[in-house]
Amino acid sequence: MRRFERIVVLTGAGISAESGVDTFRDKDGIWSKIDYRDVATPQGFERNPGLVHDFYNQRRRGMAGVEPNAAHFALAELEREFHAHFLLVTQNIDDLHERAGSRQLIHMHGELAKALCMNCGSRHEWRDDLSTSVPCPACHHTGLMRPDVVWFGEFPYQMDEIEAALGTCDLFVSIGTSGNVYPAAGFVEEARSAGAYTVELNLEPSGGRNLFAEAIHGRATEIVPAFAKQLLGSG
Ligand code: APR
Repeated sequence: MRRFERIVVLTGAGISAESGVDTFRDKDGIWSKIDYRDVATPQGFERNPGLVHDFYNQRRRGMAGVEPNAAHFALAELEREFHAHFLLVTQNIDDLHERAGSRQLIHMHGELAKALCMNCGSRHEWRDDLSTSVPCPACHHTGLMRPDVVWFGEFPYQMDEIEAALGTCDLFVSIGTSGNVYPAAGFVEEARSAGAYTVELNLEPSGGRNLFAEAIHGRATEIVPAFAKQLLGSG
């Protein structure tokens, strides 16, 4: 494998699947059980904030019982050992990457363990349940606390930094995402037009498979450590 200088990695729900976190679009995935328009849109929150809070409260409680897996740890080691620029962009709102040791990390869809006040804009670490009766710790306004998660129709976080990294990377690796949701699904084309080599690591060919120069299919806990080892070996 050739030597790379600037790596951008994108992850999706598939990297957390073997930790026991449900994916969205696999068989029995999250969106097969609840309509995303009811729990992952601003309109859904407006219509029924209690339903939205229950949805995220359940997922937040569920995080207590899950651990990072070998794929998360392999990416953290790659970041530590890699000799040059490394950025991990995740679509996931779980905290498994940081718990595995990743630091150069952007949560483009926000974080389950954070709450946002829609009155004053303050953000807070949040591991408990949220509800419309929870006052904002900063402005003390009640009823406008929401999960700090990017919903459909909202703009993902830190896109300027992500676009800048995609425009200068020489390797783009997509892991565990179905390539259904933009702008993340378009990152491979941005990286490719910047001259990067592009690789998809996924359980099965994603919707965007043909956009990648190379694809490695299998379980993340097997293919990600092997890929990281190969990269470090060539480093
Ligand atoms: N190892 C590797 N890949 C896996 C594994 C596994 N063990 N299990 C599942 N996958 C793959 C599936 O084949 C699928 O292509 O992970 C992908 C998960 O796809 P989605 O469920 O669509 O999740 P994701 O791509 O992260 O969704 C993107 O959509 O609903 C929004 O905001 C939400 O961030 C999410 C975004």
